[in-house]
Amino acid sequence: MKIFSGTRPSGELHIGNYLGAISNWMELQDKNDCIFSVVDYHAITTPYEKEKFHQRNLEMVAWLIACGIDPEKTRLFRQSQVPEHTELAWILSTVLPVSELFRMTQYKEKSTDQSKENISAGLLNYPILMAADILIYDADTIPVGEDQVQHVELARIIARKFNHRYGKIFTEPKTILTKTKRVMSLKDPTKKMSKTGADGIALGDSSVIITQKIMSAVTDTGEAGKISPAVKNLFGLVEAFGEPEKMAEFIQAIENKTIQYVELKRYLAEKIIEKLIPIQKKYQEIMAKPDKIEQTLTNNAQALRKEAQEKIEKVKKEMGF
Ligand code: AMP
Ligand code: TRP
Repeated sequence: MKIFSGTRPSGELHIGNYLGAISNWMELQDKNDCIFSVVDYHAITTPYEKEKFHQRNLEMVAWLIACGIDPEKTRLFRQSQVPEHTELAWILSTVLPVSELFRMTQYKEKSTDQSKENISAGLLNYPILMAADILIYDADTIPVGEDQVQHVELARIIARKFNHRYGKIFTEPKTILTKTKRVMSLKDPTKKMSKTGADGIALGDSSVIITQKIMSAVTDTGEAGKISPAVKNLFGLVEAFGEPEKMAEFIQAIENKTIQYVELKRYLAEKIIEKLIPIQKKYQEIMAKPDKIEQTLTNNAQALRKEAQEKIEKVKKEMGF
């Protein structure tokens, strides 16, 4: 399989990113051709701090490597260093009706966060650039969290429309999801955990902060007598971070009222901390050598540019340029 995925350098990676996407990237990297990107051009579609932007990019790469993404096995790169992605995005934008973009859930959500005059055309066009990221390498399998499924489907639609008009040029990609495909906010279980919210657990959070956040996570929302969405979310985290038999035990104990949520939370905090401490340690080691990160990104981008340029040439030829 040819794999492509990306993450925005718009804040700190959190356990939602880890469980929804990165854990799958790690599993896939051994047996597949994997291309992973820090998608900096996507990150500028919403307000960001330019003074911290370069650093944020490096940090994102360092976190990915610390989690276990191996820069020797995968092609890890910075999106803006392969400008052919934006060239292809322009071309793809001409085959897609704009109405398709307005129906995207992420656009609807993010555009309500901002006043109307500040919503950029870039935010609307975001999924076209994402389609270009994927289609330029003919990636067939896209490991993302559930929130990005709609965008991958749009990439399929774009590929199909383009192929219909100009001949079979692009591969139609499909999504693969992890078991924990959507981690919700610890404060509001109707919202997904996000990079910009304070409602999630960042990979860099200290043990004290992790414990505080888990202990204050909401539990009692939803209908009485039923497991609430907030508790379901905590169970999902126990399943992901805890020992395999633990979730069934907790469900049973809570239903029988032999233990309270506080015990489940204590266990969960401990397991998350156990998982994150070695990752944090590795992150510090990687960040001590920023030049090495920079070199890896540049080398990979140079190699990928060759592939991307060949594809663009083919596309333009078919289109009559
Ligand atoms: P982003 O933070 O939007 O750059 O997302 C990077 C990757 O993490 C994408 O594949 C997302 O689908 C995934 N992701 C982001 N937030 C969550 C979440 N709360 N639960 C599961 N996966 C997520
Ligand atoms: N839009 C994705 C997100 O916010 C990131 C992304 C950009 C991506 N290009 C991609 C993911 C291509 C998969 C494939 O999570």
